[in-house]
Amino acid sequence: MDYRVVVLASGRGSNLQALLERQSQDNYRITAVLSDKPQARALTLAQEGGIEAIAMDWANRSEGESQLRDQLQRLQPDLIVLAGFMRILAEDNVNPWLGKMINIHPSLLPLYPGLHTHRRALEDGRKVHGASVHFVTAELDGGPVISQTRLPVLPGDTPESLAKRLLPQEHRLLAQTVKWLRQGAIQLADRQVMYNGTPLKEPLVVP
Ligand code: GRF
Repeated sequence: MDYRVVVLASGRGSNLQALLERQSQDNYRITAVLSDKPQARALTLAQEGGIEAIAMDWANRSEGESQLRDQLQRLQPDLIVLAGFMRILAEDNVNPWLGKMINIHPSLLPLYPGLHTHRRALEDGRKVHGASVHFVTAELDGGPVISQTRLPVLPGDTPESLAKRLLPQEHRLLAQTVKWLRQGAIQLADRQVMYNGTPLKEPLVVP
């Protein structure tokens, strides 16, 4: 069965690249990449991979939201992956896709929703940091967490060194989570993440 994935990205697209590399072995197909930034490297990566690349006009929020709504309606994906998509989406773009839209966020949610996660973790003296993949709800970075990867904070770490060490782990985390979703191992039921039919008590950990 064809499993269609649409990726939303605003920038560099390294998480998109990680998914592109695994799509045939994990049996899904990225059918389009959408960006709010016409210059995003993610769009170039999509074009190079022969994938439809769509730059949305987000100069004005309601126009951007409306273009996104229309594109998702047309594409009818099985899964939408927000991979470095730096916009907060309106409820009417989120609610129709509840359980089918995920986001990767560079913190151990519920810690540090929003921006500057690495800096905030360092300021708080955290010994462990990481990244999370969660189902998207209308609440910013607040939907049910599916999976996490953890990273020790080392003496002398800076926001940049943390981001750099975390990135390859993010790629594994996102790819593994998409694989679980594709296999039907993970589902959202009434705001509860189910793993193989059982409510998940703690996020799944990906090394
Ligand atoms: C990642 O760190 C992701 O967690 C965050 O934005 C970054 C995107 O990186 N939300 P890339 O565009 O996938 O390289």
